[in-house]
Amino acid sequence: MTRQPNRQPQKAVGTPQSRVDGRLKVTGQATYAADHDVTGVAYGVMVDATVGRGRITGVDTRAALDQPGVRAVLHHGNAPRLPYVDNPGSNNPPGERLRVFQDDRVRFFGQPVAVVVADTLEAAQHAASLVTVTYAAEPPSTDLTTAPADEPQRYARGDAEAAWAAAPVKLDLAFRFSRNHHNPMEPHATIARWEGDTLTLWDKTQWVVGGTQQELASVFGIPQQSVRVISPFVGGAFGSGLRAWPHVTVAALAARVTGRPVKLVLSRRQLYFGTGHRPAYTYALKLGSDRRGRLAASIQDIRAETSSYETFTEAVMGPGHMMYRTPNVRQAYATVPLDVNTPIWMRGPGYATGAHVVECAMDELAHELGVDPIELRLRNEPETDESSGLPFSSRRLRECLATGAREFGWHRRNPAPRSTRDGDWLVGTGMAAAVYDFGRAPAQAHARINADGTALVQAATSDMGPGTYTSMPQVAADALGLTMTTVEFRLGDSLMPPTPPHGGSMTMASVGSAVQDACDKVRRQAITLAVNDARSPLHRVNPDDVVVRDGRMHVKNDPTRGETYRQLLGRNQRDHLEVIGSWGPPEQSRYSMHAFGAVFTEVAVDDRLGLVRVRRMLGVYDAGRIINPKLADSQALGGMVGGIGQALLEHTVTDARDGRIVNANLADYLVPVNADIPDLRAIYLDGGNDQNADPIGVKGLGEVVIVGVAAAITNAVFHATGRRIRELPITAEALL
Ligand code: MOS
Repeated sequence: MTRQPNRQPQKAVGTPQSRVDGRLKVTGQATYAADHDVTGVAYGVMVDATVGRGRITGVDTRAALDQPGVRAVLHHGNAPRLPYVDNPGSNNPPGERLRVFQDDRVRFFGQPVAVVVADTLEAAQHAASLVTVTYAAEPPSTDLTTAPADEPQRYARGDAEAAWAAAPVKLDLAFRFSRNHHNPMEPHATIARWEGDTLTLWDKTQWVVGGTQQELASVFGIPQQSVRVISPFVGGAFGSGLRAWPHVTVAALAARVTGRPVKLVLSRRQLYFGTGHRPAYTYALKLGSDRRGRLAASIQDIRAETSSYETFTEAVMGPGHMMYRTPNVRQAYATVPLDVNTPIWMRGPGYATGAHVVECAMDELAHELGVDPIELRLRNEPETDESSGLPFSSRRLRECLATGAREFGWHRRNPAPRSTRDGDWLVGTGMAAAVYDFGRAPAQAHARINADGTALVQAATSDMGPGTYTSMPQVAADALGLTMTTVEFRLGDSLMPPTPPHGGSMTMASVGSAVQDACDKVRRQAITLAVNDARSPLHRVNPDDVVVRDGRMHVKNDPTRGETYRQLLGRNQRDHLEVIGSWGPPEQSRYSMHAFGAVFTEVAVDDRLGLVRVRRMLGVYDAGRIINPKLADSQALGGMVGGIGQALLEHTVTDARDGRIVNANLADYLVPVNADIPDLRAIYLDGGNDQNADPIGVKGLGEVVIVGVAAAITNAVFHATGRRIRELPITAEALL
């Protein structure tokens, strides 16, 4: 990594800034997708299939069309045919996208089968209830454990079967994970407007360019530049916005047919059927070790649901083959097509599942051997990533474990299960390590220094809540030599420079590095203009000797000699200076890149009722440089809340008779509420700056913070009760 000459002082990066968009959000002025005021908008309401598989035999729209204000009812019998060109650059999994209203087939319960467009939302909702769809229904396939699986993905090193057979200590464990739904506060929503052959979409999306712009262009067979996507605010997504779901096409189709802009907001119930989910899994693990707990063999058989029309996979195999030193590993990961909407990544995708198995198994092994669970992990720290042979860009798991143990008071615990009682409550503590393979991808950003000395920086990324409006100006301000208040960052428009998916923990590293590159370049452009300007106090100074502070360029060792951006641009009659910057990871990485962490928790379990209460939780993270500790805390604590939900509450329940999700609402699909959340604390290891990962030294934080939470809770439940629960969520019934 070459260091730039005269690296700017870092004043904004690393400081706990409040969200610059916080006031807009809490005063209702932030414009989420459905909030945009589009003249002449009509309202679309979808009608969803009420069978889990089969064919549509009839759609009776007469009663709906008779309603005042109803403009159209579209369904497979009257909708225009769409080209659905392939979109290889997207997040679409292999297979055939669901082609809305293109044929009579029903592939899952809740599939959109018609849309009503009306002048008011109320008219559209009422008319939608009057559309009668008849079906030739078939029994849907809904059981992950019995349905036939696809050919599995495989991974192997060494001879796991032989090593397991020979291992003196053996575990043979079977885990189950329920299907989970993202449940963002803001429902998915789209406003679509056509002007000639140009489509504008105000959309809730985590990927303005690849996810919505390219996808809708390919669905309609029009050039990418003919679609503009605007998405300045996203009210949570957790992965559900990483691709354009069928409702976006429905809105665009409805707008095309009616000649009106159409707003389509999914109901809370529709979110469960139409925007993906964390797939249900079964995960069998055989683990063999020597008597000191050094792992010898790991055999893993994984099954996960996908849809009948697309094969969704995620990095669930990662933790099982890279986390701990294990000479012999065999993994098989098979998808099982079911009659369900295609799954999608949900926070900590793959790793939140795979690491749960690994971290619970390590706890079981530690107990079996009478070794402290932290000590067992230390005995199995790998030198390198054994799955790739690459060194870790940084791996400070030992420090996470040591810091966590000290701050949590881990070593005061009596390791015997059922050793602590508090009235009716059995009290236990548990821990787990956390890991996530944060992403990095090519990104661009535009930086402009204005004549008044302020700056504007833009990139097409969306922001689902991590605080991109705040963290990017921190990076930009330092690179430009400005204060944060004089830097504005705009995002969420496909006219801005392209960026990767706002997911996979890659935004800060990727877009942040592009922002830094753009700002470095435009700063240097200003300095070059000054040193070549005979009227500038900086004339003929070596550009490498110039730094910028508070908008004033000066000689590094002589602060009296300099001038402001504003003076320079004014004298030169320049309205602005601007640059497009970029960053992308090398094609072939020389490092294995992961964020790490350690999670510690104390739980209480009611001995007679089986209720689990989390009493406190501490996470310690090795996530590289922390751009803004205040925003990092909202990521980390939010991740812990998500993990508590995964461990104890979240469970999508399907009726096997018709594939219906029976708890498709926030009353019956349980998520943690304030009363479920105890004292949470996050610590970030000092001195993080992973220059092997990216120029700003960050390792993504947003996903690693959910990983390991459920395992720490599960392990604490064992410590409290002596009961091993290998199914998520942990229910009261399971503990009785
Ligand atoms: Mo995250 S599951 O990549 O939004």
